[in-house]
Amino acid sequence: MPVSNALAASDIGRGIFDLAGRRILVTGASKGLGRELAVGLAAFGARVACVARNEKGLAETAELISAAGGPEAAVRSADLRDSSAIQQTVDSVTAELGGLDVLVNNAADDHDSPIEDTSLETWQRVVDLNARSVWLLSKAAGPYLRESGGYGKVINVASVMGTVGVRDNTAYVMSKHAIIGLTKALAVEWARKGVQVNALCPGFVVTDMTTHMHADETGSRWVTRQTPMGRWGETTDFVGSAVFLSSRASDFMTGQALVVDGGYTTQ
Ligand SMILES: NC(=O)c1ccc[n+]([C@@H]2O[C@H](COP(=O)([O-])OP(=O)(O)OC[C@H]3O[C@@H](n4cnc5c(N)ncnc54)[C@H](OP(=O)(O)O)[C@@H]3O)[C@@H](O)[C@H]2O)c1
Repeated sequence: MPVSNALAASDIGRGIFDLAGRRILVTGASKGLGRELAVGLAAFGARVACVARNEKGLAETAELISAAGGPEAAVRSADLRDSSAIQQTVDSVTAELGGLDVLVNNAADDHDSPIEDTSLETWQRVVDLNARSVWLLSKAAGPYLRESGGYGKVINVASVMGTVGVRDNTAYVMSKHAIIGLTKALAVEWARKGVQVNALCPGFVVTDMTTHMHADETGSRWVTRQTPMGRWGETTDFVGSAVFLSSRASDFMTGQALVVDGGYTTQ
């Protein structure tokens, strides 16, 4: 029997974006986009659990959440390349939050090398975090998300590089295409189990991941030329989409890749 979560007409108002009472796990929340999403989701009322390796970065994110007036954050330091740490992290975070409604798979790593110069170790490092950990986290979180009464959500932070290619980035591009495939497969698998699974695909964003390119005049100009809106994305550009995908406003949406890229993939 499908789990129905349809909104009544009387439910529709600003409240459809309200995240009060929602329990959300965000990976890669110690800096960059993950930090911004964690703070933004908390500002809409969610209780957020921040997961990454760097404890100092996680503590700073928790402070930012508190400064934004969000509910007290949970923090867990974990290396998500370590498969044995994943189930334990999901279980302990869920116990602390009292359940889990949304999983934001955001942590990822990059490389910048043509295939001839990319070792199998580099490929493995990227794929283990960007794709394998996303599969394992989804598997570990699934039973909790299915218990959230029809409002379970997974948001896989992919990339425009999950829809198109770019040079010197084979392992990353592969991993991001893989998680869009996972998004579609799991969306179908869980469609009648009350869990929606979608991907968020940012264009080029100013974070530590892209510092080398942003700081390089030629690289940075290439991005602004290739992006019809003529600028890099800022981490704040993605908060609205994450709130939408976490909220009741997206209850009938599943298996989609929401591209937020200033038009990069439109031409
Ligand atoms: N920046 C862009 O232009 C861009 C474009 C499209 C998509 N994206 C995607 O957006 C997401 C966030 O990227 P970002 O730009 O914010 O990158 P970032 O600033 O490099 O942040 C990466 C995050 O992942 C965490 N992380 C890395 N290795 C980890 C591990 N082994 N275990 C647990 N956590 C780990 C890092 O925390 P610790 O080091 O503390 O572990 C950090 O919090 C990624 O999925 C990325 O692919 C970024």
